[in-house]
Amino acid sequence: MRKLKAAVFGTGFVGRVHVEGIRRQPNVEVAAIAEYNDELAKRFAGEMGIERSSGDYHTLLADKEIDAVHICTPNALHFPMAKAALEAGKHVVCEKPLAMSSAEADEMVKLARAKNLANCVNHNLRYYPMAQHLRRIRENGELGEILVVQGTYSQDWLLYDTDWNWRIESKSGGRSRVFADLGTHWCDMIQHLTGLRITSLCADTQTFHKTRKRPKRAVETFAGKTLKPEDYEEVPIDTEDFVSVLLRLGDRARGAFTVSQLAAGRKNGFAFEIYGTKGSAAWNQERPDELWLGHRNTPNRIIIKDPSLMDEKARSYADLPGGHSEGYDDTFKQIFRRFYRTVADRSAPVEYPDFADGLHGVQICEKVLDSSAKHAWVDVPA
Ligand SMILES: NC(=O)c1ccc[n+]([C@@H]2O[C@H](COP(=O)([O-])OP(=O)(O)OC[C@H]3O[C@@H](n4cnc5c(N)ncnc54)[C@H](O)[C@@H]3O)[C@@H](O)[C@H]2O)c1
Repeated sequence: MRKLKAAVFGTGFVGRVHVEGIRRQPNVEVAAIAEYNDELAKRFAGEMGIERSSGDYHTLLADKEIDAVHICTPNALHFPMAKAALEAGKHVVCEKPLAMSSAEADEMVKLARAKNLANCVNHNLRYYPMAQHLRRIRENGELGEILVVQGTYSQDWLLYDTDWNWRIESKSGGRSRVFADLGTHWCDMIQHLTGLRITSLCADTQTFHKTRKRPKRAVETFAGKTLKPEDYEEVPIDTEDFVSVLLRLGDRARGAFTVSQLAAGRKNGFAFEIYGTKGSAAWNQERPDELWLGHRNTPNRIIIKDPSLMDEKARSYADLPGGHSEGYDDTFKQIFRRFYRTVADRSAPVEYPDFADGLHGVQICEKVLDSSAKHAWVDVPA
């Protein structure tokens, strides 16, 4: 059987994880990669043993053999790249946030539908095995009606005014920074697990560093700690460092969470708590194999990932036996497995977040900025 061929656009932090995740699919090969110039593209392709590379992604889209494209570039490129890929008849996995505006995201949803192409926004964090176990026990009614969700997504890599990344400038990352980057993951996870949609919100954004010292040369994500004072220039900042949000979900559930890139010591601190009428659950990405289950009248429990003890419907999300951890890069294997199932068979069920979910995420980002500017509650489109 012919292997499906994928092309990856952007080979920075997450592009590399995509390449590895695709290579873990038995029916897919990484046929080509694109970077912003030929030299970078060639270097990465050589390092990773990828046959074809280009400094211009359009040349790869012209290749009829390429079935699917993974967009792993700064946010401003998601829309033009996805549009060109869909127009060229390629299935698309696009990183989050899906686009710079809901108008762009809406166009992507419509184009993917019109072309009948598989489309996925990469909310890979859904695919931690214990998150899937929690989703199933919530569906089974073990938590009762969900009343409250709360949590945070906190990192520290932009704490200093000397920390820099393309995300800081709205022209590359969009008007929202930390919410678009981290808040979209948090909201996607909570809605996926509870089955409840965020209907309205009240947000407060803060830019603690009104100016930052921009390096005079390019820096890869998370690599800013290696620069020296003489390598910078001072620039004004137009994106937020921190957001706190109150939520309304479904008919009567409530929520509250924060997102931050200035939380010293928190590296990838994505945590949530879900409180229902029968019980509650808490999970933290930095200890992904553990799920805390809380009870009112019986002892609380911490359960450890073990496929043989997981809910039957969640079992296929864990590939290793108990005691063998499954982490961040395994979530990419899981989401791509489900994506390529629908590429190979267009009638297979869509078991991953699609562009419509990505559009909802972008709409939430816009409403967060809107609410904070107005100092008011705002409704989120259904
Ligand atoms: N799902 C996740 O867990 C996750 C994690 C990190 C990043 N992301 C998302 O992935 C995207 C990339 O983030 P990153 O942290 O990997 O950034 P990065 O800066 O590490 O990598 C971006 C890459 O894109 C390349 N690029 C720039 N212009 C290009 C062009 N015209 N053609 C081809 N390549 C080009 C850059 O050279 C760089 O290698 C962002 O949208 C981000 O939100 C998602």
